[in-house]
Amino acid sequence: MVESGIFYGTLVDPLLTSMRQRILPKIKKGETVIDVACGTGAQVFILAGRAAQVTGVDLSQSMIDYASKKLQKNGLKNVTFFTADATRLEQFVDKSFDVATMTLALHQFEPGLYEPILSEMKRIANRVVIIDYAVPLPKNYTGVASHAIEFFAGIEHNRNFKLYCKAGGLNSILPEHGIKIQKSVFIAKGAFQLVIAASN
Ligand SMILES: C[S@@+](CC[C@H](N)C(=O)[O-])C[C@H]1O[C@@H](n2cnc3c(N)ncnc32)[C@H](O)[C@@H]1O
Repeated sequence: MVESGIFYGTLVDPLLTSMRQRILPKIKKGETVIDVACGTGAQVFILAGRAAQVTGVDLSQSMIDYASKKLQKNGLKNVTFFTADATRLEQFVDKSFDVATMTLALHQFEPGLYEPILSEMKRIANRVVIIDYAVPLPKNYTGVASHAIEFFAGIEHNRNFKLYCKAGGLNSILPEHGIKIQKSVFIAKGAFQLVIAASN
């Protein structure tokens, strides 16, 4: 798996800004948000324009270091980053946040991790908002580009992406793990799906 903040921050994040902004209307002003597997923090900084407080967590210390450096530069006062394993978020008590978000991360986890990660997101927040690949991907430019990006992201990443697709993507995985989809929209020419769910 490619875990370099410089790779994501320079090559991937700039392509995704408008897609990331689609999450903003799903957050109410004044809400508290945790972004799980936050990577470079690109989604966190966008959420910070609307939420009262945003916490970004990621297992990779180098990603958190990269995000923290960006935070020092932009000076946002309502953002915090922590290194944490999404399968064990025990430092956060039940329902500590209004919303738990996860963008473009579920597809890269091995399927055995779906249950602990989604259970933790449900436990610590009242609402769950997830953006990930649509399944099936559209047969247009964005669909082809998505397959190519996943191929070049590495053997393990691509294997997990294929298992995610085989499992049926968010429409199947979320209900199988106790997350009831309340609203769902396809974005970025059908390549991604944004799902809103209540956590209980
Ligand atoms: C594909 S990147 C997506 C990052 C970010 N959400 C975005 O929108 O760009 C996946 C991230 O998941 C993180 N990750 C992998 N395993 C994790 C775990 N067990 N707990 C938390 N983060 C994890 C990686 O370090 C990486 O930053």
